[in-house]
Amino acid sequence: MKQQIPFSKDIELAFKNDPPGQWLSVLPKGCIRLSSGYPEPALVPSKELKESVANLLDAEGDLPLQYIGSPKIPELKKIIQERLAARGVMVSDEELLVTSGACQAIDLIARVLLDDEALVALESPTYMEALEVFRNYTERFMDVPVDEDGLQTEIFAEMLKDRKRQGLPLPRILYTIPTSQNPTGTTMSQERREHVLALAEEYGFLILEDDAYGELGFKENPRLIKELDRHNSVLHIGSFSKVVAPGMRIGWVAGAEELITTLNWFKKDLHHPFAQSTMATFLETIDFDERLKHLAASYQSKCETMLQALQEFLPPSVSWYVPEGGYFIWAKVPGIDTVELLPKALAAGMSFVPGKYFFLNPEEGTEFLRLSFSYASEEEIVQGIRLLGEVVQKALAPK
Ligand SMILES: Cc1ncc(COP(=O)(O)O)c(C=O)c1O
Repeated sequence: MKQQIPFSKDIELAFKNDPPGQWLSVLPKGCIRLSSGYPEPALVPSKELKESVANLLDAEGDLPLQYIGSPKIPELKKIIQERLAARGVMVSDEELLVTSGACQAIDLIARVLLDDEALVALESPTYMEALEVFRNYTERFMDVPVDEDGLQTEIFAEMLKDRKRQGLPLPRILYTIPTSQNPTGTTMSQERREHVLALAEEYGFLILEDDAYGELGFKENPRLIKELDRHNSVLHIGSFSKVVAPGMRIGWVAGAEELITTLNWFKKDLHHPFAQSTMATFLETIDFDERLKHLAASYQSKCETMLQALQEFLPPSVSWYVPEGGYFIWAKVPGIDTVELLPKALAAGMSFVPGKYFFLNPEEGTEFLRLSFSYASEEEIVQGIRLLGEVVQKALAPK
């Protein structure tokens, strides 16, 4: 296996005195955090989770703390099945694996399905952690551009046709975040969802549908690709990170029984009984649909605040997609290298993620940056975008 060089090296240089690996999780004091895809602190149900832990341990004693776990663990699986069923995806026990977050699901899938001969199709840009995971297993990629309607399936279809005509290998998997994509915030249209599924069937690859933000739509989202799937061409990946708490590390993957069984063999972390039983206890005490409505309304309001601030403080040459959900706004700042801009933004008191980390070919991301409206307060968002506007104006000013 290849040794990975941390992708964040040059950003770490901006934090010369910080330990390596901290990257943008440690910011200068008082810096407004528009870089991180974290839930808003007030929307993390700390108090309710504390009560859930107390109730769980009162009721079950040491059980959730043992390897053997608690009766709540199968209940959590049932809750996930019910939630998927409400979205048109029926999965049996054997077709669903609860994982330590969506990231573990992606890693297990890569471990089982990929080797260094495997070709992986990806959205361009895409979620940087997924890119890192896949790079641990293969160096062979095809990247497909994203526009405001998500993955450009017409272009993908041409690329596939070309490869087939030339006798080149076809992708084994396509990794897509069809709803409120990270980093672009775009949502794949219904038509393209149907098209991409047809391509998977025609060319024989599996679709990894990463639905981390799928329940945080500001309006009704298109149907899940998994809902349309009739031939087990889709592995559906979900997570509680963005709708409950990322530190709980609970996600899942749903797909063909044979594949899920294999993923389970390779899942050697002995599961996480305490986190899973706490999550089940918490979910039993709340109206999850109400919670989702509240989260979506809160994030929509913050998103609108950020959009307004961008309009007010950024020069007219800067453009962005208007998200329909999720956590992120993706902006293009023509004429500026966003890696060079970052230390200036940090010194001014705000953070963003430079676009290059989301691309296979980093150069494609030079003029882009990702902003997150999820974590900071509305006042901080306005202030952070005002500071961004100032550093962008300065960078664009004639020298
Ligand atoms: C698209 C996407 N998938 C997965 C994750 C991580 O999910 P988890 O915390 O469940 O591993 C993130 C987090 O940023 C994400 O943006």
